[in-house]
Amino acid sequence: SQARHLMSIGDLTPNELSTLIRNAASRKHAIGAGRAPASLTTSLTGKTVAMMFSKRSTRTRVSTEAAVTALGGHPMFLGKDDIQLGVNESLYDTSVVISSMTSCMVARVGPHSDVANLAKHSSVPVINALSDDFHPLQTIADLLTMHEAFPSSKASGPDLGLGGLKVAWVGDSNNVLFDLATGCVKMGVDIAVASPEGYGIPERMRKLITSAASDVGSPGKLYETTIPEDAIKNADILVTDTWISMGQESEKKKRLDAFAGYQITNELAKRGGAKDGWKFMHCLPRHQEEVDDEVFYSPRSLVFPEAENRLWAAIAALEGFVVNKGQI
Ligand code: CP
Ligand code: NVA
Repeated sequence: SQARHLMSIGDLTPNELSTLIRNAASRKHAIGAGRAPASLTTSLTGKTVAMMFSKRSTRTRVSTEAAVTALGGHPMFLGKDDIQLGVNESLYDTSVVISSMTSCMVARVGPHSDVANLAKHSSVPVINALSDDFHPLQTIADLLTMHEAFPSSKASGPDLGLGGLKVAWVGDSNNVLFDLATGCVKMGVDIAVASPEGYGIPERMRKLITSAASDVGSPGKLYETTIPEDAIKNADILVTDTWISMGQESEKKKRLDAFAGYQITNELAKRGGAKDGWKFMHCLPRHQEEVDDEVFYSPRSLVFPEAENRLWAAIAALEGFVVNKGQI
């Protein structure tokens, strides 16, 4: 199709990624953190954005609806019981029909091929709102959060000055990680991943993440280990996500056993030798098992600004892909 889509962070050059983050930051500064952006622009006036969600969502749904509204458009939420999304009708038919009536599709699916198939046949931009492989809107918000928490004198022009930071991801190697790791590599941020044996980064994802380095001058490096303390050494930011992603509910017991010892706590951070001023991030929704309350609700925790940043990320993504048709 003619339209440019956002399937994953790998679709963006480092310059485009930092431009989206800068645009999100400047929208946020213009309006103010923690404020609903009433009528930011009229760039989507008269336009409908179809939001096709086959899974639950708090942040992605609310931020996308609020972002479309702020740009003057109409968000049309279509849950899994509302439309035929790969059930009872082909993705081809769905994509052709919906893209003939709307200006954008934002889709949350299981298999990544579902959102890729929607994009393939769509005449309008498709934005991945989480698939089993990627979560690009989350990564844009996460890098914005890091940019705010670690302001750098090295930042200039499109360079956000994040280079040299170290992220430690402790937990499951999942969709959120795959895009975050790609984003870190592109921004010059090192990322160390500690996952239990059998829950590490699949080879095809490792290739995608490390190949993101090819278009960057000083790419971040990816380290992988099964030992949380090793990943945490000298880390600026500790990050995790649920151990049981949507669709993996039947593996709950097996996973809780496998991830024992991977809960992020102050003791673990200390044992691992995180930097003194280390921060904590989590895309949410959060459960006690992957991070305790002491860390999650501490001043180190960036989780609520990170969640709010989903709104500014959604605004920047819609402006980049829908209003400006992928010219970022
Ligand atoms: N972080 C995130 O995508 O949250 P939701 O599943 O609530 O949208
Ligand atoms: N890894 C989680 C992220 C939810 C935002 C999931 O896929 O369920």
